[in-house]
Amino acid sequence: MRALSSEPVERAVARLEELGRISDHPEFLTRSFLSPANLRAARLVGEWMAELGMEVEHAVDGTMRGMLAGTAPGAAPLLLGSHLDTVVDAGRFDGALGIVVALAAVEALRQEGRALPFPMHVLAFSDEEGSRFHTTYLGSRSLLGPLDAGTLSRRDEAGESLASVLRAEGWHEGAREMRYRSGETLGYVEVHIEQGRVLQEEGLAVASVSSIAGQSRLAVTLHGRADHAGTTPMGLRRDALGGAAACVLAAEELARAEEGAVVTVGKLKLHPDVSNTIPQRARLTVDLRHAVDAVRERLRGELERLFREVAEGRGLELEWEVVQESAAVPCDGRLREKMMEAVGSTTGRPFSMMSGAGHDAVALSARMPVAMLFVRCREGLSHHPDEYATPEDVEVGIMVLREFLLGLA
Ligand code: GLV
Ligand code: MN
Ligand code: MN
Repeated sequence: MRALSSEPVERAVARLEELGRISDHPEFLTRSFLSPANLRAARLVGEWMAELGMEVEHAVDGTMRGMLAGTAPGAAPLLLGSHLDTVVDAGRFDGALGIVVALAAVEALRQEGRALPFPMHVLAFSDEEGSRFHTTYLGSRSLLGPLDAGTLSRRDEAGESLASVLRAEGWHEGAREMRYRSGETLGYVEVHIEQGRVLQEEGLAVASVSSIAGQSRLAVTLHGRADHAGTTPMGLRRDALGGAAACVLAAEELARAEEGAVVTVGKLKLHPDVSNTIPQRARLTVDLRHAVDAVRERLRGELERLFREVAEGRGLELEWEVVQESAAVPCDGRLREKMMEAVGSTTGRPFSMMSGAGHDAVALSARMPVAMLFVRCREGLSHHPDEYATPEDVEVGIMVLREFLLGLA
């Protein structure tokens, strides 16, 4: 295994810290779609790309792209990257790692004076988490074509539609339309923290990803009746929150009984949300995942039936909306093989695993072959401020990506 010069590794680690300080909140890390911090982070990444001699441009949604020419005339580009947006009170590695590692691999090759035959496009996406609109992959989906009307009509907390946010808050000046059609690229390769405990338990720094689990994102609203907290007898209440609580527990029980299933209610909003009024309305999100699409689809049907049963039993009305669904995505056979070779030649232990988390590769797989490399993260902790990958593991990630790029060339 070839050692890297220390600069690209040290720079990558420092950049993770620097990006981690760019937040919309003074006390914790959060960057959402088109937020001021997200755009500041994109500008900074654009500067890093320019320092590497890349041609840099951005899209109206805040996606940043750095392009490096290849030596073979007319060769299709390879796409690398990850996302700049974060969840609320996030860690520093989810998304950012894939961007800084891609830039570090490009830098390492440049230092060695090795030019690759194919162009490389490093992408820093503006939205993968979907924290603002409860819909995922806005950045990578926009590379495939205009967002559909349903997505554009989704509203954020402030009640603004995605379409109007793009008009009002979009990064219009100098923006480019970025699109990729089938057959126009070599593929998309993303480095990401594992976000689980498999690598830690295996004692491994990295793994090639075999496939990415499918997911369903649902929005559920329970309508009851507001009434006085002091005077309304328990038997006469139509309490929307009571119904929501029963739904959450039913969802948990359903997922516990199904091997490999996970379900999360991550968001709950009440109206009128005061202490002495019975909740009239409860809105909740449901995130449901399973590696096998047919199982996820069956569970989604069972969840809807259970929620309707709860609502009926409590005199509530239920609105059920499937916001977004993605099928499980297998990584491309050839790219995966190259990634396994790179993992094997760098670490001596080729290892492959599936991803329970969603990634931009899911959206991009509609148009191009995709592959991913996972880097171990401490205790498997993610979507948490203590999320951490050691500099040594980040270095292994850069080494493997460098090997992969050379192998592909
Ligand atoms: C992205 O972090 C996801 O929700 O899997
Ligand atoms: Mn991520
Ligand atoms: Mn995430």
